[in-house]
Amino acid sequence: MRVLMKTVFLAVLVALGAGGAFAQQPIRIGVIAPFSGPFASVGQEFQAGIKTWMKQNGDVVAGRKIEVLYKDTTGPAPEIAKRMAQELIVRDKVDFLAGFGLTPEALAVAPVATEAKKPMIVMNAATSIITTKSPYIARVSVTLPQLTAPLATWAAKNGIRQVYILVSDYGPGIDAEETFRKTFVAAGGTIVDAVRVPLQNPDFAPFIQRIKETKPEAAFVFLPAGEQGISFMKTFRERGLAAAGIKLIATGDLVDDNQLGSMGDETLGLVTTHHYSVAHDSPENKAFLAAFREANGTQLRPNFFAVGAYDGMAAMYEVARKLEGNIDGDKAMAVLKGMKLASPRGPVTIDPETRDVIQTMYVRRVQRVDKELRNVEFDKFESVRDPGKP
Ligand code: PHB
Repeated sequence: MRVLMKTVFLAVLVALGAGGAFAQQPIRIGVIAPFSGPFASVGQEFQAGIKTWMKQNGDVVAGRKIEVLYKDTTGPAPEIAKRMAQELIVRDKVDFLAGFGLTPEALAVAPVATEAKKPMIVMNAATSIITTKSPYIARVSVTLPQLTAPLATWAAKNGIRQVYILVSDYGPGIDAEETFRKTFVAAGGTIVDAVRVPLQNPDFAPFIQRIKETKPEAAFVFLPAGEQGISFMKTFRERGLAAAGIKLIATGDLVDDNQLGSMGDETLGLVTTHHYSVAHDSPENKAFLAAFREANGTQLRPNFFAVGAYDGMAAMYEVARKLEGNIDGDKAMAVLKGMKLASPRGPVTIDPETRDVIQTMYVRRVQRVDKELRNVEFDKFESVRDPGKP
């Protein structure tokens, strides 16, 4: 009898132990982004930003291990992104969906997040409408209207009167075009013409030639960050637009800190607006840059994609801490609303109304600093909300 009791006692202990181990399951984060194909740099930067955060903050929160699963969409590929989100939820039992470099992929996953009540942390995709597509979305990056309205205001204030608009023909480009037009015209400026170029493999030569023949005072450009900026700048120089006296202004996507290192002197003096520059002078950014090098070596240069991912991790760690490791979709969203982060870009707040980020927009100029081309901040607009929201 004594032996039997002992066995039962031991069995109960084992069962309790197993229960304890179950409670100690990792918190899983599924990161959906392109890691190959024309936008591979988005996924690479996301991963590098995530590794940077984990280097600084470890991989255990509230007693639970953090596990990150990466899914390569090869995109833009909305259907693949959607399928991956479903698999992450059903098979991998993730607690968070995260990543989302490209607008079409974020939009495709929004209904999946709603259906499964999974918090979806947008680390880049920047079309205004995205956060309205699911109550489970919070964005820690930026929106195109947020970047573009301050640039149009700056241009009008600095004596530019006539602008030709060139944007990529999809969500963020259309947001950029509409916001630039509205803000610039309201400030007394004129839009002489506007053109939308294909998202995939655009050949810039005919479009740039057309701008040259129209002879506007300036061209405003939005292109998604990555290799397109390099080929645009090369064609702009070859066709002699600067020599013809046509100024160029853009959102920071055109000269992101990763690509800028491979661009030439034709970028010197280029004015852009953006939420992050590696040249941003703050203790948080210094610590970020040092940890980035430690976690990733010096091959990859950090940019705003990496910072978006780093801040997304900060947000998810904070949710896990506040919920003591028990992630629930609705409770997670309540924690995210109004959350403040000390980002490498400066202070950010997640707007409790829209779940979009409120932050400083910087006006920067490309300059050579210690032999490197850098986006040097010289003016700013503080506490900017997304002006694209109704
Ligand atoms: C987007 O698809 O929303 C996007 C991609 C790259 C950028 C900005 C926006 O640089």
